[in-house]
Amino acid sequence: MRLRGKKGAPELLQQSKIAILDPQSARGRWHDIFGNGRPIHVELGMGKGQFISTMSQRYPDVNFIGIDMYDELIARACEKAETIRGELGVDNEANLRLVRANIEYLESIFAEGEIERIFLNFSDPWPKKRHARRRLTHPRFIEKYKHVLNERGEIHQKTDSVTLFEYSLNSYAEVGLQMRNISLDLHRDGPHPEHVMTEYEEKFSSRGMNIHRVEVLVGREAYEQYRASLPYGNGGQPVPQP
Ligand SMILES: C[S@@+](CC[C@H](N)C(=O)[O-])C[C@H]1O[C@@H](n2cnc3c(N)ncnc32)[C@H](O)[C@@H]1O
Repeated sequence: MRLRGKKGAPELLQQSKIAILDPQSARGRWHDIFGNGRPIHVELGMGKGQFISTMSQRYPDVNFIGIDMYDELIARACEKAETIRGELGVDNEANLRLVRANIEYLESIFAEGEIERIFLNFSDPWPKKRHARRRLTHPRFIEKYKHVLNERGEIHQKTDSVTLFEYSLNSYAEVGLQMRNISLDLHRDGPHPEHVMTEYEEKFSSRGMNIHRVEVLVGREAYEQYRASLPYGNGGQPVPQP
């Protein structure tokens, strides 16, 4: 997604209290920036920011960070956050930051174990085989995610692309990660109020396209809690993550 020519985007970003244009300087200090020790959830490739803004309003006890690489999109996302702030009278300046960065350099933005959840919403599918390394669920990206996620760390992915979804499930399996709540048609029974929709999700599901979703357990604690909750397999005992 590229929005060209949003007038005044650089000025808007300079003035915004929630835009962060030099995130490397925040590495290892994100909890200080939010002023609390609450979990940090990050959307990689937030686009115009509807999902991350709505999440920050709905879950005030979680800190949210949206990342994208284009000024115009960060500017749109700032405006979206402001609209939500105005309409609902919520203080999402407290728990929301919008970051300009390239996901390639994720480890220069977050220290080891600094964040708790990664959302991959409608990531570019890069359908050509020769571009597979650019897919955000290529094992080389998953290794970065493993580094920055903490013991309770999870990845939540949604996509309309069946080929990206198939590829992603294989990647998670390849690096030995447990998956749960896999859905090939998230909105089969109508919209779920607990699932906040992204811009792309609204567009694709209104055209009748299936939305695929998976949760991936990355941190040891997340994995063990999940295994312990199962009514079968190892007598419900936690199994060490391979
Ligand atoms: C298809 S859009 C999805 C937007 C939004 N998540 C949604 O569901 O509506 C993918 C977004 O990822 C961003 N993106 C792709 N590769 C990126 C990278 N390496 N670093 C930062 N952002 C990236 C694009 O700029 C674009 O806004």
